[in-house]
Amino acid sequence: MSSTFAFAAAVVFVIYRLVRRIVRETCEARPGLRTLSADLDRLGAVVVDLDAYTSQPRTISDLREYYGRTSFRDYMILRLTYGWELMHTVLRHPFAEAEGGGGGLSSLMHVVAHLACASTTRAATGITPKKNVRVLEIGCGKGANCLYLASVFGSRGATEVVGVDAVEAHCGHATREARRLGLDGGDKKVSFRCEDATTMTSASEEKYDLVFGLESFCHFDTPEKRRGVMASVADRLEPDGKLVLVDGFRRADCDLISDAEMRKKAMRLSERAFQIDAKMPTKEDWKAECARCCGGGLELEEDIVLTAEAAPFWTGRWWKAAHALLQLAPTCALRTLRKRLPYTFDNLVAACFVGQAFHFGVAEYGVLVFRKRR
Ligand SMILES: C[S@@+](CC[C@H](N)C(=O)[O-])C[C@H]1O[C@@H](n2cnc3c(N)ncnc32)[C@H](O)[C@@H]1O
Repeated sequence: MSSTFAFAAAVVFVIYRLVRRIVRETCEARPGLRTLSADLDRLGAVVVDLDAYTSQPRTISDLREYYGRTSFRDYMILRLTYGWELMHTVLRHPFAEAEGGGGGLSSLMHVVAHLACASTTRAATGITPKKNVRVLEIGCGKGANCLYLASVFGSRGATEVVGVDAVEAHCGHATREARRLGLDGGDKKVSFRCEDATTMTSASEEKYDLVFGLESFCHFDTPEKRRGVMASVADRLEPDGKLVLVDGFRRADCDLISDAEMRKKAMRLSERAFQIDAKMPTKEDWKAECARCCGGGLELEEDIVLTAEAAPFWTGRWWKAAHALLQLAPTCALRTLRKRLPYTFDNLVAACFVGQAFHFGVAEYGVLVFRKRR
């Protein structure tokens, strides 16, 4: 009898400890040195060699493979839980709300739409919108932004939106969507091209009022890639045309933070997980490239900081779930995930460490707006 009681008590105790651990790692966990250090230790144990993982070269083929494999599968989880698939789609932009953009994708897209028409962001209210707008999105993914923009501008006049992306499957999906929505011809025309934006050669004589990138310019991680994309953008912009970059950036002072080894590791793991080979660009990298490119033909118009708005996405439920999974899943399960679904494993790493990079100030989120001089 007493041994049955002892056994039952032991089982209850083990279950209690397990539940307590799950609750701690999911509900009570906060980004900070404790969780960062625990996740680095655990990942080091699972991946075996963090240095080898972070220094493994990443090429455009890896990027194509990564998005080709995950953006129709893993990103669906975001769609199911948030309704949209990317970080910026849950960002509530302070002055988009004033523009009636609401939340979600419409929020940022209204800002981008107004930037194409107004002389400055803050003077956007009450302007007479320009008619017949031509827009180019660099790294358009599955085309949601382009299709949305065509409908925003469509009520104002003829609109042509072109999306460029390196992933064939994205462009195929986007083209089918445009056809389904009746946006593949006539007054509201949206088209997609599969191309590497850093060596873009297609239709170089075409000019645009707005060129923008939403979470795609972070992939242009070397001076050569930045030069390549900036040169073709500057060429394709109309005088007074705008280049808008909405993205995460490495903080320029990231290397100066004292006692920063773990924080920098969080940044490097985030970059590696997103298939960024070298360092993610800083805002200063883009400003310098812009000043260098086309003899100062592009000038900085706005530098908007949105880190506080972006951070909750990365430190909220997805960060908690990823942290809990990393801490609680059996090592063999994590190793199998890495072996069988390496890009999904990368997404787990990103979910664990991007929030920490924001939390510790080694990464920032924001908008840069450049204008082409007349
Ligand atoms: C995070 S996704 C963002 C997609 C889209 N802008 C959106 O908001 O839904 C980044 C995209 O940039 C694209 N990309 C990255 N490097 C590229 C390159 N060199 N040329 C063209 N597209 C690129 C990727 O294929 C991917 O679709």
